[in-house]
Amino acid sequence: MINIPLIQVKNVSVTFQSKKQTIHAVKDVTFDVYEGDIFGIIGSSGAGKSTLVRTLNRLADPTSGEIDVNGVNIATLSGKALQNFRFKMGMIFQNFNLAASKTVYENIAFVLKAAGKKGEAVKSRVQELLTLVGLSDKADAYPAELSGGQKQRVGIARALANDAKILLCDEATSALDPQTTTAILELLKQLNRDFKLTIVLITHEIDVIKKICNRVAVMSNGKIVELNDTFALFSQPQQAFTQSFLNVDENTLLPDNIKNNVKGTLIRLRYIHENATQPILYQSAQLTHVEFNILHGFIEYFNDRALGNLVVELIGKPDNIQALIQLLKDHDVIIEDIS
Ligand SMILES: Nc1ncnc2c1ncn2[C@@H]1O[C@H](COP(=O)(O)OP(=O)(O)OP(=O)(O)O)[C@@H](O)[C@H]1O
Ligand SMILES: [Mg+2]
Repeated sequence: MINIPLIQVKNVSVTFQSKKQTIHAVKDVTFDVYEGDIFGIIGSSGAGKSTLVRTLNRLADPTSGEIDVNGVNIATLSGKALQNFRFKMGMIFQNFNLAASKTVYENIAFVLKAAGKKGEAVKSRVQELLTLVGLSDKADAYPAELSGGQKQRVGIARALANDAKILLCDEATSALDPQTTTAILELLKQLNRDFKLTIVLITHEIDVIKKICNRVAVMSNGKIVELNDTFALFSQPQQAFTQSFLNVDENTLLPDNIKNNVKGTLIRLRYIHENATQPILYQSAQLTHVEFNILHGFIEYFNDRALGNLVVELIGKPDNIQALIQLLKDHDVIIEDIS
């Protein structure tokens, strides 16, 4: 059986036409999302992220291109089929979009009733959803009585009410403090794990991507400039834009007074933690008669994977330094000369 992606975005462009100008918000974007993905779309303000994601649930229509969900071209959907499609694709927002005059219970019950559920079925489903998002005691509260994190939990419950299989998140944690953000991301992870919920998540926060996405697309100026597994993207970004946007260098920048005093060759090593680079560096340096001086080091975590970073000064004969670098590369260490 061929593994059809859950969402196929094919050459999608979105153009806005006003009297004065034409804005090409999304330009010829193509990518697939697989079932069970937590697919991140990251990019700076105005990159076209929201516009792109709005085309996935027909909140906006592409100017050209096609989007298939479950193998069906969503542009062909209308009436009941379109309504059912939308029930299966929930969405949450930065500003939560809850009805202020409705209680938590009513906010969720509303979408269940819209899908034709009645009476006891609504009651029990709302209770089930509130338990799922950890708000079983808040059914009668109004949105104004909730914290930001609690409001987003209601947003999630509402988005999933009609058994959504896909959740679209547009900056869903951008209005939350770091601790609350972590809690909401944990909830999304749990839903992804327990219900195979596929998540497409827009953010401008790199940490959000690192924490939960398994795949990520980097958007700039309407285009996807790079797409990869999260770990691969952060450990080996290919495009200059991605490198500067992800700021992979930021943590390894040395203060000028240190950098100016470096006499040897300055290199950055990036390695997957399981490779246990410290002994490899030590042994390789001994073998090649090069001295090394660790100036900076840290480990970043991506889900359960660790990426090590070291900035090291190498002192020795140029040939020996080259031999050392080659030995490290043979051990899958990524080396950059940053002298
Ligand atoms: N309805 C619209 N009419 C005209 N232009 C629009 C419309 N919606 C978006 N745009 C323009 O399209 C471009 C992309 O906007 P979009 O909201 O998709 O960016 P974004 O990546 O989500 O940005 P942010 O991170 O600030 O939310 C921007 O130049 C924006 O001004
Ligand atoms: Mg946006």
